[in-house]
Amino acid sequence: MASGEYETTRDIIIPKDPFERIIGQPEAVAIAKMVPYQRRHLLLVGPPGTGKSMIAQAVASVLTKPRFEVSVLENPENPERPIVEIRDENQIKKEKREEKQIGIEVFPLDVPTFVSERLGFRCRRCGALSAFTETVCPQCGATKNQKNVFDRFGMPPQGGVVPEIEKARVATTRRSMDGKEEVIIYERTADGRIVMLRQEEIKKLEEMNKKSKRKVLVPLKRSTFVQASGGSETELLGDIRHDPYGGHQNLGTPTYQRVLPGAVHEAHEGVLFIDELTTLGNIQRFILTAMQEKQFPIVGRNPMSSGAAVRVEGVPCDFIFVGACNINDIKLITPPLRSRIRGDGYECLMNAYMEDNEANEEKLTQFIAQEIIKDGKIPHADWKSVKVVIEEARNIARRVDNVKGFTLRLRNLSGIIKMAGDMAATEKKQLIERKDVEIAIRESRPIEEKLREKYGNWWSAEVADYGVRTEKTGPETA
Ligand SMILES: Nc1ncnc2c1ncn2[C@@H]1O[C@H](COP(=O)(O)OP(=O)(O)O)[C@@H](O)[C@H]1O
Ligand SMILES: [Mg+2]
Repeated sequence: MASGEYETTRDIIIPKDPFERIIGQPEAVAIAKMVPYQRRHLLLVGPPGTGKSMIAQAVASVLTKPRFEVSVLENPENPERPIVEIRDENQIKKEKREEKQIGIEVFPLDVPTFVSERLGFRCRRCGALSAFTETVCPQCGATKNQKNVFDRFGMPPQGGVVPEIEKARVATTRRSMDGKEEVIIYERTADGRIVMLRQEEIKKLEEMNKKSKRKVLVPLKRSTFVQASGGSETELLGDIRHDPYGGHQNLGTPTYQRVLPGAVHEAHEGVLFIDELTTLGNIQRFILTAMQEKQFPIVGRNPMSSGAAVRVEGVPCDFIFVGACNINDIKLITPPLRSRIRGDGYECLMNAYMEDNEANEEKLTQFIAQEIIKDGKIPHADWKSVKVVIEEARNIARRVDNVKGFTLRLRNLSGIIKMAGDMAATEKKQLIERKDVEIAIRESRPIEEKLREKYGNWWSAEVADYGVRTEKTGPETA
């Protein structure tokens, strides 16, 4: 689109495909597009602000949504070895349904009077039936004396609405056909029905409750993009939370509840993006293991913690690895990790600049429009101001990379657009104008450059910190 064909960035159509929003990196984008379908790994090398994170996010965005949930269950035989359980959507639904199917649903009218009273369906004074969520009898106005409905001061909740429906149970006995006594439990379920349970059903329910001693580590509904910043081993690999009571039966938190997943586990079925990969140092080898095994144990990582003896085996971590680093840091990537990526994926070098031509001018215009939309708080830009941004892209390429072209170190440019936008917004302008961009460019230069302009040279600037006046600082020097 030539400059004459649009008046403001509002007229620019922004592509829906996140890959198409990445400008100036056709080689990297072509490779990145293959990654999600083949489930390969990716290493992105290049200067900051050229789109490495954007590429990782684009890869994650085209993945199918996760199919499995990962939980740990209590292991009664050996509490320090909680058991991993993997369920798909159907299994989760089926187990919920089974839980509902145990016992027979009965109606408040069919149960013994004292049961319907205790479960909150019947008024003690007048005997009228009403929903248990009503704390006051709609018939006679008496307060219904029921379990779990009063707050901790003994008052019915405001407006008579129970904020959280809790289960409640009443046990009784009845004589069966053959004359034996049997225990019957009436349970008010979480969704407010009454279910009658016989003895053997109670056993089955308890079996199921045992299984429901579960902590979901990685929920079914989750993002396919997980970013881990280097540095923290526990953030990346998971941990067992410390319990000051050492998991004591009555005082402590049960072990399985203290299991914390790491980023490698949260990225299961998705993308694990590690920015500044080399800051991980030695931890890189754990990533390699996780990539190879597609599962990684969660252990207590602090030897002084009560979690140190706990180990959860077989926690899945089948992720697509996307790592990013600067050109200077390539040598700090551990060789086995690099060869793994090479063998089972791709390495890409990001472009720092692109050719100065009309097509790329259009790309930059698209970029400006994208940044404005993404920011959401700044007005669109008129085409004269767009031209100034494009000119600055030329200047940066010359200044930083010493080439003729447009810079692709776009984070800097993005900063300029936002600052210009903030100024226009403050002045309640409808559009970003040329002047706004010019001021933003001047203001966004690095401090060193501003100092050089103000004090003439670096040495004078340093002295200025101590308030010593030099010839350069002005006429007031003696
Ligand atoms: N190639 C690009 N195309 C479009 N926008 C970009 C590009 N590179 C960077 N940006 C802009 O700069 C921001 C920072 O880029 P990012 O992807 O985090 O860079 P990196 O990860 O290489 O440091 C992005 O959110 C985006 O707004
Ligand atoms: Mg980034």
